[in-house]
Amino acid sequence: MRTLLTGAEVYTCDGLVKQDISICDGRIQFGAQDMRYDRTENLTDCVIVPGFADVHVHLREPGFSYKETIRTGSMAAARGGYSIVCAMPNLKPAPSSMESLREELDIIARDACVHVYPYGCITRTQTGRGELADLEAIAPYVVAFSDDGKGVQEEASMRSAMLRAKALNVPVVAHCEDEAELVPGGCIHDGQYAREHGHIGINSASEWKQAERDIRLSEETGCQYHICHVSTKETVELVRQAKKRGVRVTCETGPHYLIYTDMDLQESGSWKMNPPIRSAEDRAALLEGINDGTIDCIITDHAPHSAEEKAKGLDNSAFGIVGLETAFPTVYTYLVKTGKMSFQRMIECMCINPRRIFRLPGAISTGTKLREAGIVYHDGLIEGASADLCVLDLKKQYRIDSSTFCSMGKSTLFDGAEVFGEVRANYIGGNIVYPFA
Ligand code: DOR
Repeated sequence: MRTLLTGAEVYTCDGLVKQDISICDGRIQFGAQDMRYDRTENLTDCVIVPGFADVHVHLREPGFSYKETIRTGSMAAARGGYSIVCAMPNLKPAPSSMESLREELDIIARDACVHVYPYGCITRTQTGRGELADLEAIAPYVVAFSDDGKGVQEEASMRSAMLRAKALNVPVVAHCEDEAELVPGGCIHDGQYAREHGHIGINSASEWKQAERDIRLSEETGCQYHICHVSTKETVELVRQAKKRGVRVTCETGPHYLIYTDMDLQESGSWKMNPPIRSAEDRAALLEGINDGTIDCIITDHAPHSAEEKAKGLDNSAFGIVGLETAFPTVYTYLVKTGKMSFQRMIECMCINPRRIFRLPGAISTGTKLREAGIVYHDGLIEGASADLCVLDLKKQYRIDSSTFCSMGKSTLFDGAEVFGEVRANYIGGNIVYPFA
């Protein structure tokens, strides 16, 4: 299949450049070539960027296919412009041994329509407690080790996990939550809204104290360490200082933490996720962290649940919202178009940094030589790389409608939102994965 994409601006190492893209044998070439094309697309007014990469999603299979499946979750990813998603291990069975991981890998091989890379567990039961998983056996097949959904409670366990992960050259990715700091029944940020509406709060210390411990352990062991869904100003500052000391630490946050504060909450389960949306001060610190390079990635934490599980108000609903089909338009509309973040920074956080940190495949230059030479440049699409591309129509304005989601989860904070920016097409290895055939 030979495809010619004409008329678009392309996100290259030289910035956005008006450039035709020729896709031949699944690879990118710049400019139209002297050949017959099977397909030509006129994309005037569109921008072509590397496909998005989300290192934090929940696809629920095996074990919870009433919430989502690899097929529906990866279709949601394709529609959202993602080439790659990394699937968290809170599954049944949890992927802590080769036997349990194989079940997940088989479903991925059969049903995924974008690249899906699984996480392996840190602990055998993925509860943040007890014996460690069979890290050595699963290492070659997982993107990283994580117990996402649970913090690893014992310092000795985390140290031992980091030492083994370091020897395997696999990152440790942590949901930081110190259960000793928590009041049971907490459902939203422990702040003004919780006090005024009589809800039990989830305090900031439960996140940052464990992040502080883990940064110390990463410094001690030399293990590559990445912090999940950072929500507090204290965690941002801890990561900023650790990076200055040269600790191998990176981190992520999600669109909802950057767009909302706890004072936007409503009495609905859609506003419930863990960690919770925090105060205006926390949101400002997160944005500052995005812009000064402290926060590396924007993830969705796509966490689908059934309608019933999300219909029980703030106190009793399940934690989690979906995000794969809304991340790009909401980040673009609320953060880029309003001048809070540049388009380039959005691409770095959603396409470039996830690939670089987790050594994921994709059509980007890592630009090491240029960086060593001290030349300021963009990472971007390069010739010869696999054509994992996303075509964006930035001018398209529309209303988000959760009933059209491919995801089985419909709980979102953006239903009915008027947004700019539509994913027109998504190519992986030169094959069109969205719109669906
Ligand atoms: O909101 C959340 N949902 N936070 C988590 O840590 C887990 C996730 C889920 O799996 O539903």
